[in-house]
Amino acid sequence: NIGKSTNILWHNCPIGQSDRQKLLGQTGCVVWITGLSGSGKSTLACALSRELHYRGHLTYVLDGDNLRHGLNRDLSFKAEDRAENIRRVGEVAKLFADAGIICIASLISPYRRDRDACRALLPDSNFIEVFLDLPLKICEARDPKGLYKLARTGKIKGFTGIDDPYEPPVNGEVQKHKANWLPDNIEKFCDSYLAEIHAGN
Ligand code: PPS
Repeated sequence: NIGKSTNILWHNCPIGQSDRQKLLGQTGCVVWITGLSGSGKSTLACALSRELHYRGHLTYVLDGDNLRHGLNRDLSFKAEDRAENIRRVGEVAKLFADAGIICIASLISPYRRDRDACRALLPDSNFIEVFLDLPLKICEARDPKGLYKLARTGKIKGFTGIDDPYEPPVNGEVQKHKANWLPDNIEKFCDSYLAEIHAGN
């Protein structure tokens, strides 16, 4: 067990999640946005955050690309590193939810098992999986960062959707199939999202 955490005990603080939630007037939860590169995950995450913010909710966006500049800078895109990436972000998202914050995580998170492990960290009603179900053809045509082009010409190896797998959710709470996801849909989405949260609590 050398190198692993052993002989550790949980310490409880007198102020807990329910106290923080009361203070903030909201339920801490995780909205997990998954989908191919270029499907609009970050756009949706930011639009959702903005919309909820203006409605008086405290949110925080955990973006896969951004986190790979710091917390996850040591991880590659091979399957076990993607799993570690998702595990870390799932744990961080759980902390944000425990803080009473609406945490919006947007990562490709291509493996069902990794996403399900994140779901298992929270009460079921506090984890909302959103699948941005945009066909590969459209993501590739959009190619906002030019990465599909590099992947097609072999300059990036193991690119999701090209030569690396993506496993779509089977039981996600929200599945969106839209050729052009536009932020004016966000308001409707927020309403259904808030209804779900309140139904579960
Ligand atoms: S994962 O699969 O969840 O660990 O990926 P994530 O942390 O969300 O990072 C995805 C962004 O990394 C860029 N990128 C790649 N994506 C997929 N496959 C490969 N090989 C790859 N290499 C770099 C890409 O910009 C992704 O950003 P998005 O926002 O998804 O387009």
